[in-house]
Amino acid sequence: MKERDSFGNHFGVLVALAGSAVGLGNLWRFPYLVGTNGGASFIIIYLFFVFVICLPLMFTEFVIGRRSQNNVFGAFRTLTQGKKPFWGKIGAISVLCAFVILSFYCVVGGWTINYLVKSVLMQFTEGVNFQQMFEHSSTSTTVPLIYTLIYVFLTALIVIMGVKNGIEKYSKIMMPLLFLMVIAIAVHSLTLPGASEGVKFLFYPDFSKVTGDTVLAAMGQAFFSLSIGCGTIITYASYVKKEENIISSSAATAIMDLIFAMLAGVAIMPAVFAFGLSPSEGPGLLFVIIPQIFSQIPFGSVLAILFFIVLFFAALTSSISLLEVVVAFLSEEFKMKRSWATFTASLSVTIVAVLCSLSLGLLNDWTICKLPLFDFLDKLSADFLLPIGGLLFVIFAGWKMSDEEYFDELSNGNTLKQKRWLLYAIRFIVKYIAPIVILIILISCLLK
Ligand code: PHE
Repeated sequence: MKERDSFGNHFGVLVALAGSAVGLGNLWRFPYLVGTNGGASFIIIYLFFVFVICLPLMFTEFVIGRRSQNNVFGAFRTLTQGKKPFWGKIGAISVLCAFVILSFYCVVGGWTINYLVKSVLMQFTEGVNFQQMFEHSSTSTTVPLIYTLIYVFLTALIVIMGVKNGIEKYSKIMMPLLFLMVIAIAVHSLTLPGASEGVKFLFYPDFSKVTGDTVLAAMGQAFFSLSIGCGTIITYASYVKKEENIISSSAATAIMDLIFAMLAGVAIMPAVFAFGLSPSEGPGLLFVIIPQIFSQIPFGSVLAILFFIVLFFAALTSSISLLEVVVAFLSEEFKMKRSWATFTASLSVTIVAVLCSLSLGLLNDWTICKLPLFDFLDKLSADFLLPIGGLLFVIFAGWKMSDEEYFDELSNGNTLKQKRWLLYAIRFIVKYIAPIVILIILISCLLK
């Protein structure tokens, strides 16, 4: 058998993890969820999930992936040595989940290409109705479809060419650039007249408005943003060398991801209030606010091009991590050639993505649980499939793997000399806290 690919060095691992985590989840999904779920109180609940539940889960995915050196489906079979038929198959739900996320993610990825083209054509000028512009870009029939197809094609192309040759190189430039751009937009946004209302919205919690749905959405967003629960980390970790420090790499990724999300919030929310728009605008928020900001500032048209390039790039590094889950599964489980596996996966994604895109316009009346397909898949995957995947991972690692095995992997065979209390605290969360919290929230939302 051909030797498995692996990341070149520590920096490559960090870039790949951060590339997967930082994406549309931070810049598109987080601000609009903050807006529709009441602001600061949502953020506080979100922080709880990031640090208390998702970070230990990230360590756990790392442990599973690196120990098994296998794709997400094969990982559980390897670790159970074929002796536990149920647990050996739990990876299937992750593959399904990655597929579902990718299907609507590519539609939003298509919007970013569309907005990049608009910025090159200098369409962001003062006086334009940006809400109408977004409506047209997302609900018409052919335009969003074409961009979605281009987006899927580009994602597939990179996965075929291999992640190492190229994407890693560009990420080193794009990520810092995205960071600088979001900071600059945030600073500008804060200086707009009326911005203080937005700051208040982001930082003064009003817990009286918190409902079960707020908690569910915050949990789902934490999973989504950190790429937890559908095996992306398991898949990437299977390419990681034994020397890598799991705890510090995961913590660095989580903190970076959080910083991007918070900056996106500060970049967008004050502007929302300054422009007199409603924070509960929904999925169009980013695409309405950002062009409007660029239409008002000097060199805005050039900066807009730069912004949409880096946004597109951030989205791409996340979607390749999703596609990689499906491709690694197909190529290792069904012994398909990598290029053939990528083709099969992308073609299937394209079909669902096309339906998702159409569900916002032409097929809007065709609903599942009262939601158009796009919104249904978004909610299904983030709020349910990812947490269910995560739940199975922690139960597996907490109860089917021994303490020794788990600690051995976390501390690289005890060569890292991790603090004992830290290891025990992580183990305690993985065994008890995370499963109980996730279960309670899922059950109470399903019974509602
Ligand atoms: N974390 C990515 C983002 O924030 C999306 C993603 C979810 C990627 C799940 C992989 C797995 O955009």
